[in-house]
Amino acid sequence: MKRRKLKKIWIIIPIVLVIILAYPCFVAGQIISQGYGIGSVFKIVTTGIKDKVLENDYSKTLEEALKSNDFEKDNIDSYLTIEYHEKKNFIKRINNLVSKGYSQADINLINEKINDDMVEKLYDHELIKDISKYLAFDYFKSDNLFRYIEYYYGDYEEAVLYVNIGLDRDFYEDANVITEFSTTVLANKYNKLDENFEPDNIVQIKSSCSKGEEYLSKEAQVAFEDMCDAALEDDMHILANSAYRSYENQQEVYDTYLNLYGQNYVDNYVALPGYSEHQTGLALDVAARDYNTFRNSPEYEWMLENAYKYGFILRYPEDKQDITGYKNESWHFRYVGKEIANYIQENGITYDEYYVMFLDK
Ligand code: DAL
Ligand code: ZN
Repeated sequence: MKRRKLKKIWIIIPIVLVIILAYPCFVAGQIISQGYGIGSVFKIVTTGIKDKVLENDYSKTLEEALKSNDFEKDNIDSYLTIEYHEKKNFIKRINNLVSKGYSQADINLINEKINDDMVEKLYDHELIKDISKYLAFDYFKSDNLFRYIEYYYGDYEEAVLYVNIGLDRDFYEDANVITEFSTTVLANKYNKLDENFEPDNIVQIKSSCSKGEEYLSKEAQVAFEDMCDAALEDDMHILANSAYRSYENQQEVYDTYLNLYGQNYVDNYVALPGYSEHQTGLALDVAARDYNTFRNSPEYEWMLENAYKYGFILRYPEDKQDITGYKNESWHFRYVGKEIANYIQENGITYDEYYVMFLDK
């Protein structure tokens, strides 16, 4: 009788043990099948977040949080939602941003678009509630974030664009210095061509399209002559009046106009040496053969309608002085290539805007 009892116990004990062990094994199995490693299972169970974990898809961020010393149970929802990025102190970063008040969506955007130095600055800065509005633009630049906020007056796109151009700063302040030629090079009051900057392949414009001896960089010269010939077929006589100017030539032009018309005039119409597009070999002032004032000529209307087809744009349009830094110059055209000229024509923007939107990487 006694022996039979004993035997029974030896059958019951393993069954009970199996039952006791089966449940955790089952849970562990579920967690592992979500994608988590065995190392994370223990922490998930002991911190009491099992149900949350099982309700959601696998999160690499959570797994890394569980491994790190920075894991904070209150931030579990953030760990589950925020996409993982291979960065130093990534979990600490999430904790800091969450405690600052940033939403999970904001944090995802911040991680994607803001560089590490600027993210650290966010910890000490008051919450930027509308940060996602700035981050929405492809041409958002981390380093300019605080400048955008300072400049903002109701239009996020303009804040980002105009600060990227440099419009929140004084002209010539900390200008970028450009040494390399390209057909898309930008010269304006914030982008200065080095004194030794020279365009590639300077070629003389043929005499039938020019008032005197004028030169452009080859690609622009070919395009200009094509345009000049096409205009002629419409009985329009477009001539190059002043095209490539070296740094020294620009100094002479500047001094001449300064002496003739004074500071205010040159501030509005003449670039300081280094800041002139004429030094790129891609810009020129045009004239109409039979008119003294280009603005009053049919050639001017023809250019407004057709120049973009040859890759040229009116560089200083009316009412854009706040962006370009110059008053309207009906005579000054810039070669940018057909594709860019077409976009600018269709969208009515300046080259300064186009440049920061698409070319300023
Ligand atoms: N007139 C333009 C701004 C120049 O001098 O380059
Ligand atoms: Zn000009």
